[in-house]
Amino acid sequence: MPLLERLAEILEPSDLLTAAGDTAPYLTDWRKLYHGEALAVVRPRSTEQVSRVVALAAEAGVSIVPQGGNTGLAGAATPRSNGNNLVLSLERMNKIRALDAANYTITVEAGCILQQVQEAATQADRHFPLSLAAEGSCRIGGNLSTNAGGIAVLRYGNMRDLTLGLEVVLPDGRIWNGLRALRKDSAGYDLKHLFIGAEGTLGVITAAVLKLFPRPRERASAFVAVASLDAALALLGRMRAASGDGLTSFEMIPRVALEKAIAHVPGSFDPFPDPHDAYLLIEMTSSRENSGITAVAEEALAAAMEDGLVREATIAQNETQAAALWFLREAVVEAQRAVGASIKHDVVVPLSAVPAFIREATAAVEAAVPGIVVYAFGHLGDGNVHFNLLQPPGMKPEAFLAEMGRLNRLVHDVSARHHGSISAEHGLGQLRNKEVRLYKPAIEFELMERIKLAIDPKGIMNPGKVL
Ligand code: FAD
Ligand code: MLT
Ligand code: ZN
Repeated sequence: MPLLERLAEILEPSDLLTAAGDTAPYLTDWRKLYHGEALAVVRPRSTEQVSRVVALAAEAGVSIVPQGGNTGLAGAATPRSNGNNLVLSLERMNKIRALDAANYTITVEAGCILQQVQEAATQADRHFPLSLAAEGSCRIGGNLSTNAGGIAVLRYGNMRDLTLGLEVVLPDGRIWNGLRALRKDSAGYDLKHLFIGAEGTLGVITAAVLKLFPRPRERASAFVAVASLDAALALLGRMRAASGDGLTSFEMIPRVALEKAIAHVPGSFDPFPDPHDAYLLIEMTSSRENSGITAVAEEALAAAMEDGLVREATIAQNETQAAALWFLREAVVEAQRAVGASIKHDVVVPLSAVPAFIREATAAVEAAVPGIVVYAFGHLGDGNVHFNLLQPPGMKPEAFLAEMGRLNRLVHDVSARHHGSISAEHGLGQLRNKEVRLYKPAIEFELMERIKLAIDPKGIMNPGKVL
């Protein structure tokens, strides 16, 4: 019996999409850079259904492309264009299976939206700290599979650090139940780490046990104009020390990004009367009430201003003001879409190398494409710079995008000189899977390929991504 008929026997009709109008949103990525084809989009509702779908696909030699919220930025959830694929969307598997407040853990299905998990934790007086601008639509399985980062990694770590256990459907359809809620487990290889960050190339994650934390009760959010990138780095050390390591976010926004946000995203504003080259959005949190964290932030910033590190600073006096400052951070991402073609990078270097990386990479790209606009923002507290590039005014988008390969090399060569990585949090997908070979030792790919072969000998899981 043909595969689609066999799938129809195990799935509800509304969970097996084949009409072009229904499948289209699953076949292109958030940036509309990649377009693929698929025999169908399947939306199983249980781990058992995922297992049966994968087993049938394996038998038929059809590839599986797992998909969560489809907000990924490396084209990893878009199928190839040969059409011999099934997109397996986890969106129907969106139940919170358990929350153990005493154990500070939550067990969730892979299709839960990140925000849903944050809200469930808050209701139980706990905190799930992963936070990123796409949190209203990205899903836990996608967060795990890209090892997502975001704005609170400085304090809580990335998705890998936040995960205790996984349930995975393997490429032959068998189910691995590794949903252990243990903070220590040295009984053998830690297999969950193979699947985290694998971008769907080793199996389908169906559920996870995630760590929870005490709920923050107070936060101090500050928007700060700094004298230079070196001053920003010095300030990072001071704020960490002053807050007793309660520093949660340390985000960098250059002047050009604030200007583009103000020009293109309604609701954006300049918090200061005078322009400055570089800004930071800083947040400290405390799980204690009356912690005095705002006073701590004020004192630390005042001292930094006296010492010439900080030019101007404003601290939100209430939640509305804090939300307005965070809106600016999101507007910076949004504004890029309004200004024409952009070329994105997701570089990470050791913190101490960030200023030199930005200076050297800027010089390299400005020499290569005169008039290019460097739009370098991101998670300075983690050394993660989204060294994004906007087309020079007047240049045609296609002409700018034709420079992508050359510009990528220039930027990534500088990051390599500073012992960095070409992907901090977005993954390789099909955007960076070839170029990465230039920047990691061949032995790492040999090991990765052997692992892939051991777990997915037929190569049916998300082919053409990562490796
Ligand atoms: P998808 O895009 O659906 O999939 C991503 C990858 O995971 C694909 O390889 C897919 O095959 C695989 N996958 C999905 N679900 C499963 C599963 N259940 N089992 C196995 N594999 C699976 N990322 C950050 O890290 N930090 C940020 O600050 C950040 N900000 C963003 C802001 C915006 C506005 C946008 C659009 C994106 C941002 N991202 C950020 C990127 C993106 O949101 C994250 O990578 C997110 O983790 C992807 O989740 P998703 O559910 O959309 O995954
Ligand atoms: C962010 O930090 O906002 C993102 O990772 C999105 C981007 O790089 O555009
Ligand atoms: Zn980011």
